[in-house]
Amino acid sequence: MSERAQFATKLGVIAATVGSAVGLGNIWRFPYMAGENGGGAFLIVYICCVIVLGIPLMCAEFAIGRKSRTNAAGALKVLAPKSQWHIIGYIGILASTLILGYYMVIAGWVVEYIYQAIKDNLFGDSATTIANNFELFKTDVWRPLVWVGALLVINYLIISRGVTKGIEKASNIMMPMLFVILLIFCGYAITLPGAKEGLTYLFNPDFSKIDGGVVLSAMGQAFFSLSIGLGILITYGSYFKRNVNLPKTGFTVAILDMLVAILAGVMIFPITASFGISPTQGPDLIFVTLPNVFGKMFMPNMWAILFFVFAGVAALTSTISLLEVAIAYISEEFKLSRKRASIIILLIVAVLSVLSSLSFSVLSEVKLFDMNFFELSDYFSANILLPLGGFLLSVYVGWRMKKRDFKLELGGNTQISTILYTLILFSIRFIAPISIIFIFLSITGIFNI
Ligand code: PFF
Repeated sequence: MSERAQFATKLGVIAATVGSAVGLGNIWRFPYMAGENGGGAFLIVYICCVIVLGIPLMCAEFAIGRKSRTNAAGALKVLAPKSQWHIIGYIGILASTLILGYYMVIAGWVVEYIYQAIKDNLFGDSATTIANNFELFKTDVWRPLVWVGALLVINYLIISRGVTKGIEKASNIMMPMLFVILLIFCGYAITLPGAKEGLTYLFNPDFSKIDGGVVLSAMGQAFFSLSIGLGILITYGSYFKRNVNLPKTGFTVAILDMLVAILAGVMIFPITASFGISPTQGPDLIFVTLPNVFGKMFMPNMWAILFFVFAGVAALTSTISLLEVAIAYISEEFKLSRKRASIIILLIVAVLSVLSSLSFSVLSEVKLFDMNFFELSDYFSANILLPLGGFLLSVYVGWRMKKRDFKLELGGNTQISTILYTLILFSIRFIAPISIIFIFLSITGIFNI
């Protein structure tokens, strides 16, 4: 049997895992949440959630992956044979594939904007024209699908090349590019006249806004942003060599992910404040508000291209990681070649993306629980499957996995200190499962703080 793939270098490990973490969630979700929920105070709560909850759970996923050296579902069959724990893997495979269905559509919108900016077609005469154009594009049947198709091909070209030559190499090129673009933007943003006002919105700590709901949102954002609970980190962990120290890797990835989220805010708020436009949440922020602002800037097309390439790269490294969960699973469990496995999963994602994309046009009235397909796949994967996967994962690693194995796995080639091990285990055993139950009850509306 051929030897299992591994990331070749430690830098590659960081680039690929940060690539998974940094995505559209950092660009349109984090900055606005911070601004709305107490600015600097939210930031402090968010940082605490990442450290107390995020990093320990990342370590738990990495450890399962590296110990078993196989895909998300296979991993738990190896570690906990004759039990049902492998359901954690199936939840991850299902959730990541469903997320891809709508994530690919949004990523497609990003590519359309790069294309329109290159053609100098992005900026209308007024804010209303930009908003109308976005609406027209979204509700068109074919146009968004063309870009989804292009993205599926790009994803195929990267992922079918394998772990080292595909995922690692692409991440090594794309992640530095992403940071460079972000720094250029931030440099420009902080020299604008409205910079102070924008930065105050983001950083001014308003502790009166912090309540239970805000803490839960911060926890949810930490899960989403660090790609926890989807089997991604189990799959990537299975490609780590033994010289990779898991807590150190989790820490580095979490810091870089936070840095991108914060810098995205540092770039967006001064720009919107300077041009007198109030920031909006969700897709409208990047597809309506920002083009509106770019239109008022010197060399609008250049800034728009730079921004949408940035968003596209962030999205692409995340879609690769979401795809890898299912591809690793079917290629290993059904003994398929990587190319064949990639084609099968991409075809499934293509069908889901078509359904998601058409939710804005011909299928907009096809609803279940009052949600169209796009909304349903988001709700079901991010609000139900993700917390469920995270919860079962923390119970398995905290209460079932052999503690000696877990401790040895954390350190890899080196020993980790007993204090660090105890802290990580405490979080996985108690803090994580309890917090996840609260998040779940709150987002499903069963319980409101
Ligand atoms: N972490 C990435 C992001 O923040 O966009 C990718 C991602 C992971 C998206 C998990 C959605 C998700 F539920």
